[in-house]
Amino acid sequence: MKIIILFLSCFYAGLVIADATIITPPSSIAKWYKPQNKRQVWLHNMFQLRRARHAVGDYAMANNNKLLNKWLEKYQKSYLKISQMVPEFKDEVDLKLLQKLKQAAADKDYNAVSSTLRQLDKTCNSCHNDYRATTVLLYRSADFKSHKIKTKNGDIGYKKYMLELTHTINRIKIAVADDLPQNAKAQIKELNQGIANLSKDCDTCHKQKPQADDYFNQTIKNKIAKLQIHLKENNKKDLNKTLGYIAVNACAICHGTHRISYDIKQQILNR
Ligand code: HEC
Ligand code: HEC
Ligand code: HEC
Repeated sequence: MKIIILFLSCFYAGLVIADATIITPPSSIAKWYKPQNKRQVWLHNMFQLRRARHAVGDYAMANNNKLLNKWLEKYQKSYLKISQMVPEFKDEVDLKLLQKLKQAAADKDYNAVSSTLRQLDKTCNSCHNDYRATTVLLYRSADFKSHKIKTKNGDIGYKKYMLELTHTINRIKIAVADDLPQNAKAQIKELNQGIANLSKDCDTCHKQKPQADDYFNQTIKNKIAKLQIHLKENNKKDLNKTLGYIAVNACAICHGTHRISYDIKQQILNR
């Protein structure tokens, strides 16, 4: 009996934990992000809030009443904006503590200002623990759902394109293992074209810094050329090694940011 109860309570705790780890923000927050808004307003308010928090903290320690009050205004404005922007967040902020902070500043009780600020920090952390990661994923991470890659055979969806790419790499490996150099040669050409198309696609989103140049760079181009040389020389060992280099540097590095965040975003959306 005890074991059953223990098992059940572990199971229940597991469920609660599983539930608690993925909490998404109220959908009204979308108004404060692209594409509904021109700017990432929510995030900018957060940056202002932190700057004001740092200033109030520093000026309290320096007993500088004038500058403390200047930044306290800003702190208050940004803190109040949280539940003005997303009314569902009203229980996440503590307006009584905010009042206490203002009173402490009015009394020039700098120790109380510092300690109340630290208490308010707990409201920041509590909301961040629940919502920060999911907000970034849902509203700021790259979305590949309807993104298409241009090829000479028309536009292809990301997932299908990726499956083709990985199939091409395996076809090279299989052809090499089975001593079919003509097949391998044709597939290496495919891989080259596949990565070239993909690299042109990066800059449809990456506008500030041309990602394409970094991604399909001279080293990767040289490595693909090396594949053909290794193939001619029937040097299977180096061919596989070079292919491994390409898989890490032309595929896995991008997966480390884009596939991970996109996969988690999809998991959250499809719960
Ligand atoms: C009601 C929820 C909530 C409260 C309360 C809150 N935040 Fe945030 N904060 C967020 C969310 C959600 C994000 C993620 C936004 C994003 O990255 O787009 C965030 C992000 C941030 C960021 C940017 C993260 C980074 O380091 O890149 C800063 C800075 C920040 N908050 C400061 C604060 C401070 C300081 C407080 C308290 C005085 C606070 N926040 C209170 C929800 C909240
Ligand atoms: C659908 C839009 C989109 C496409 C297509 C895209 N990116 Fe990104 N990328 C972003 C955004 C937005 C970020 C910022 C953070 C995030 O979303 O995770 C980013 C971040 C990154 C980062 C990490 C931060 C940085 O800027 O260095 C790398 C590396 C990266 N992308 C590489 C690539 C490569 C390589 C390609 C093309 C093969 C590509 N991306 C295609 C939107 C995109
Ligand atoms: C933009 C950076 C980026 C680059 C560069 C990249 N991928 Fe991907 N890959 C993604 C994203 C995003 C997904 C998730 C797509 C989806 O699920 O719709 C993905 C998914 C995949 C998948 C899983 C498909 C599935 O759903 O089963 C494979 C396999 C794959 N990529 C192979 C490759 C190979 C091989 C290369 C290199 C030749 C490569 N990728 C280069 C971003 C990239």
